[in-house]
Amino acid sequence: MDFMLTEEQLMLQDMVRKFAKEEIEPVSSDNERNHRYPADIISQLGELGIMGIAYPVEYGGAGMDFVSYMIAVEEISRYCASTGVIVSAHSSLVCDPIFRFGTEEQKQKYLPDLLSGRKIGSFSLTEAGAGSDAGATSTTAVLDGDHWILNGSKIFATNGKEAEVFVLIASTEPSQKTRGVTTFIVDKDSPGYSIGKVEQKLGIRSSSTVEIILDNVRVPKSAMLGELNKGFKVSMVTLDGGRLGIASQALGIARAAIEDSIKYSKERFQFDQPIANFQAIQWMIADMWTEYESARLLTWRASIMKDKGMNYSREAAMAKLKASEVCMFCANKAIQIHGGYGFTEDFKVERYYRDAKITELYEGTSEIQRLVIARTLLK
Ligand code: CAA
Repeated sequence: MDFMLTEEQLMLQDMVRKFAKEEIEPVSSDNERNHRYPADIISQLGELGIMGIAYPVEYGGAGMDFVSYMIAVEEISRYCASTGVIVSAHSSLVCDPIFRFGTEEQKQKYLPDLLSGRKIGSFSLTEAGAGSDAGATSTTAVLDGDHWILNGSKIFATNGKEAEVFVLIASTEPSQKTRGVTTFIVDKDSPGYSIGKVEQKLGIRSSSTVEIILDNVRVPKSAMLGELNKGFKVSMVTLDGGRLGIASQALGIARAAIEDSIKYSKERFQFDQPIANFQAIQWMIADMWTEYESARLLTWRASIMKDKGMNYSREAAMAKLKASEVCMFCANKAIQIHGGYGFTEDFKVERYYRDAKITELYEGTSEIQRLVIARTLLK
């Protein structure tokens, strides 16, 4: 067993950490407060190869492994959780299914632009009546000659405002439920496609979350991704990887909360000494770091399993469950350590606390992760 990162992974970690500290940190709070999408940062990440880190060079990727991608998402999220999810949703939920299930023609058409960050992708699974019950999709796709006609609406699509490429699922055989849905790739300029409500959120406000409206959207037959009526499995396999992206985002937020707490506790004097001298503070910091490291081990282990081509659904669910709950725990403790100041916008822990919550919700709530884990243990 080797718990060490490779030299290549360490170099990548250094590079992304430096970029995130120098380029992302100075603008992240202001962007988040103003609901501003970090377009410049995303295009720089594209130039650095981060938008397509774990994909083959032949399609425009950086040719690295999945663990490297997880490292990058954590480092980015350390300074901006919004940017972390923009990268993760784009890479895990759009590039991955196209790479894994796409025809050669689809890969050639979409991957070079997506992996370089020239185009952003968005994944549309959730609907008003199909959240945790993802198979209950009511969006339909009906074949009409050489085209599919899509009707319905999707909600909570991360990157939906900026994206030009959408991977979405629709029901093609409604009576068959999860065995009757199919995945499609839809271009933003398809007639009948539009953006509806733009969500105003508690946190990660630099990342857009929107409703997608499909009103007789006509896409060619070749827009089908994977096999007919196999779209639910495409989504589930896609979410296995996506959940690790969210675990890494959660790790980044947790680390930010811990590092800021350590710094603050050494600078803040009460009773004529830094509060870091008090055991109450030391124990909180020790617990935060121990929880963070254990969540990171779970996340990296699941990522190694993915790199090795093993089944890692349960491990991804465990990593996402643990990392998101650790993230909330650390963000909460960070505010406690900062006291009343932590409740103000003068300190970043306020943002970490708001950003942390979503990690327990999207790409499957903590309850769904527990369900996935329990099912594999009890079957
Ligand atoms: N890999 C491969 N196949 C899988 C799978 C996986 N991880 N999970 C399930 N399947 C297969 C099953 O084997 C089954 O196959 P058969 O039809 O051959 O029997 C089929 O899929 C149906 O599976 P279930 O019977 O388990 O389906 P279910 O209806 O009970 O639902 C669920 C399972 C786990 C609850 C699923 O609905 C789920 O994950 N829900 C949460 C949805 C979710 O995470 N949404 C997040 C949206 S994305 C997002 O957050 C937006 C963003 O942009 C960040």
